[in-house]
Amino acid sequence: MVLHKDKNVSEFGDFQTPENLALEVMKVVNRLGVAPESVLEPTCGRGSFLLASCQIFPHVNRFVGVDINLEHLKYLKEKILSKKYSDKIDIINGDFFTLNWSEIVKKLAEPLLIIGNPPWVTSSELGLLRSSNLPPKSNFQSKSGYDALTGKSNFDISEWMLLKHLEWLKERTGVIAMLCKTSVARKILIHVWQHKYRVIRSQIYSIDTFKNFNASVDACLFILQIGDGKLSINCDVFDNLADKKASQTIGYYQDTIVFNVKDYQRWSNLRGIDSAYSWRSGLKHDCSKVMELIPEGNKYRNGYGEIYFLERGYIYPLLKSSDISNNSTSNCRKYVLVTQRYIGEDTTHIKSDAPNVWEYLQKYREYLSKRSSSIYRNRPDFSIFGVGKYTFSPWKVAISGFYKTLNFVEVGAIDGQPVVFDDTVYFVPCWSKSEASFIATILNSQPAKEFLESMIFWSDKRPITIELLKRLNLRVLAQILNQEEEYESYVKNHVV
Ligand SMILES: C[S@@+](CC[C@H](N)C(=O)[O-])C[C@H]1O[C@@H](n2cnc3c(N)ncnc32)[C@H](O)[C@@H]1O
Repeated sequence: MVLHKDKNVSEFGDFQTPENLALEVMKVVNRLGVAPESVLEPTCGRGSFLLASCQIFPHVNRFVGVDINLEHLKYLKEKILSKKYSDKIDIINGDFFTLNWSEIVKKLAEPLLIIGNPPWVTSSELGLLRSSNLPPKSNFQSKSGYDALTGKSNFDISEWMLLKHLEWLKERTGVIAMLCKTSVARKILIHVWQHKYRVIRSQIYSIDTFKNFNASVDACLFILQIGDGKLSINCDVFDNLADKKASQTIGYYQDTIVFNVKDYQRWSNLRGIDSAYSWRSGLKHDCSKVMELIPEGNKYRNGYGEIYFLERGYIYPLLKSSDISNNSTSNCRKYVLVTQRYIGEDTTHIKSDAPNVWEYLQKYREYLSKRSSSIYRNRPDFSIFGVGKYTFSPWKVAISGFYKTLNFVEVGAIDGQPVVFDDTVYFVPCWSKSEASFIATILNSQPAKEFLESMIFWSDKRPITIELLKRLNLRVLAQILNQEEEYESYVKNHVV
């Protein structure tokens, strides 16, 4: 949300677009070469887009602007009074979520141009403001495919509105040109491509939100041209509104949104499942104060500052995302208590195998049993996740999901013990130093990097995901690099 001291401004995402920006946007729309017959601005506010479109498309006979805010509409009405096109403009005061849009839209001739700048606010932010500026719940939940797109608990209001715009044009021709967060544009594109909407061209133009709205949000002008013709699975991305040449193309290939179509196509033969190497996530325990420990002599201090003597066989060196990114993997600041060797393993044997660990766990039983995630329900006491034979491999090749570089790091044992990662780290287990070096080297090779990076959106919170890593077939990569024999020699000796 773009926060504002005025709650109303935040609640209604009420940031009016400067007139010069609206005009620039309409010029971009004009370059598409589509001559609209009517123009609709569904959350028009003071109408800067509506007025800009009157200027750029003077032949249009019907312009319609809708907004919930009467003050804005009053301003707009006064502004158009003296204009020669004023009798072509309809201004409607209404709530986007309850308005009878089909009545409005059916009267508008095609191609229909839908323009504007919907509110940039999410449903959970509106929850915090105790606002009801949301789609009706029943309506929102019955939308098929919509839940998957927006997530039931949190979604951008503009996302919901854009889906509505698409629905209005389902069987018609027209153009949608909206300012929105770039992340919203991408979600809509995935939806459009997955559900094969009649989109024949799409474009994203970056806009300078700081200059125009005094806000730092990654936002864009998002254009979708809808009509009959060949469906487009590519979207040209421009660095700014004045650019006529796209800086890159994003697209949708093999059910994946691709950041750089050119690189993806170049290396698409690398895509596939590798039968020998599986990517794994680090350990998940959801109780760091109990499970993560700092060594003190031959004892360990937990997150509550208490010191215990614990049997070493259950305590492993722990490396986190930051350690992997800084390449500081030869020693560790913390250790972690590993209560199981595989998911679901009975833990009662700890009582006799490691009495101090057992006593420790009893002491903190309450903390572990009240972990909120449902994955711990109906599981043995003190359960953990992300554990298996792979956890105990002596070597690993790892990468952090949080960091913004694609750098694979080989990690060996610390003081003779296999290293365990936290659950923000992904890794492949290896059984020797030479295997780990080999895997790290091929993963850091140019073909692997270009292939993986072609699918990474670096502005995402967690740009590197396990799903992304699993798309790379290491065997084919080794073949491309002429190192298939070495690959096969390691695979032959695999334990996991
Ligand atoms: C980001 S401003 C943009 C205004 C205008 N389109 C522009 O670009 O200058 C969002 C607009 O959405 C309007 N709005 C917010 N919630 C609405 C709703 N439920 N129904 C109709 N309009 C709404 C606000 O009043 C505000 O004018």
